[in-house]
Amino acid sequence: METTTREIKRIGVLTSGGDAPGMNAAVRAVVRTAIYKGIEVYGIRRGWHGLITNDVIRMNNDDVSHIINRGGTVLFTARSDDFRTKEGRKKAYDTCKFLGLDGIVAIGGDGTFAGCMALSSEYPISVVGIPATIDNDIGCTHYSIGYDTAANTAIDAIDKLRDTMASHERCSVIEVMGHRAGNLAMYVGIATGATAVLVPEEDYDFEKHVASKIRQAKLGGRTHYMIIVAEGAKRNTDGSLDNETVGNGSAGEQVADALRKEMGLDPRVTVLGHIQRGGSPSARDRVTATRMGYFAVMAILEGKTNIVIIHDHGQITTMDMTEALAMKNELNADEVEVLEAMTASPLDHF
Ligand code: F6P
Repeated sequence: METTTREIKRIGVLTSGGDAPGMNAAVRAVVRTAIYKGIEVYGIRRGWHGLITNDVIRMNNDDVSHIINRGGTVLFTARSDDFRTKEGRKKAYDTCKFLGLDGIVAIGGDGTFAGCMALSSEYPISVVGIPATIDNDIGCTHYSIGYDTAANTAIDAIDKLRDTMASHERCSVIEVMGHRAGNLAMYVGIATGATAVLVPEEDYDFEKHVASKIRQAKLGGRTHYMIIVAEGAKRNTDGSLDNETVGNGSAGEQVADALRKEMGLDPRVTVLGHIQRGGSPSARDRVTATRMGYFAVMAILEGKTNIVIIHDHGQITTMDMTEALAMKNELNADEVEVLEAMTASPLDHF
């Protein structure tokens, strides 16, 4: 972690990558803390793209009134290809110089932090990252803003689905977000009492991870089954299954196809999709975002730079950004173990 003794007069705040409920609460906390400490704040709109195009607004306390409860991000968000180029970052730094920014607080995921690193390694600008993604897949932090709200949104939908699936004694396949990470799928699977959960981290064996769990559940007296599938989950084909067997649809559709063809079931597929990214943030997300936003500004004032604000076993603290980016996301081992026990058959040992 680097420190600088430069006086901090003006900072920028942006949101980048996929939005997450609680981003607004973080923006609000950054603005309010900065003003409280006598620092001016510019909101940079549409992520790094806004820094390249000087799409900025001066933000005062009033500008962040009544946003703590709103999903999405009032600053808009975008993924910028231009910022991946040296020319793009040069333009972005020109905007920082033009505005007199001493630091930038960037709210987003790993991609956002990689952008921070690229900029600060080329130019003398302080960067601080705040983790926000419903995937909760940032290796350096135990918690990312938006995860709790997204999980509760999914749980609410799945509980409703269960009512109708139970009534019709059906099998339900629910696809949740998570292209590269199964944290959300697993968490939601534990919370809803799923029959099986499929994640991107391990290619699933249809017989072992789905069919046998359904058969065991049936032996145990169940008449409906809930299969939670992360959108990035893939079937292990062992090179022996052709494309037609695996199917071409989404991860959820593929599981449903196999349930039809290989088990003779009549499943219904629900893709929860972007609904999981919206909605009013939960208390946990509002409070975590507010603590992180406050901490980010205080860290800048203490002269810290190139850091990520992290959640470490309930404590909000900082980590060097290079170190943070090198940390790989892993599924929570305790949750994996618990889920295994919860989806195993009670008849296994008899
Ligand atoms: O926010 C994270 C995430 O939801 C991933 O799980 C998903 O793969 C991705 O965003 C999709 O984002 P978009 O539709 O905005 O490209």
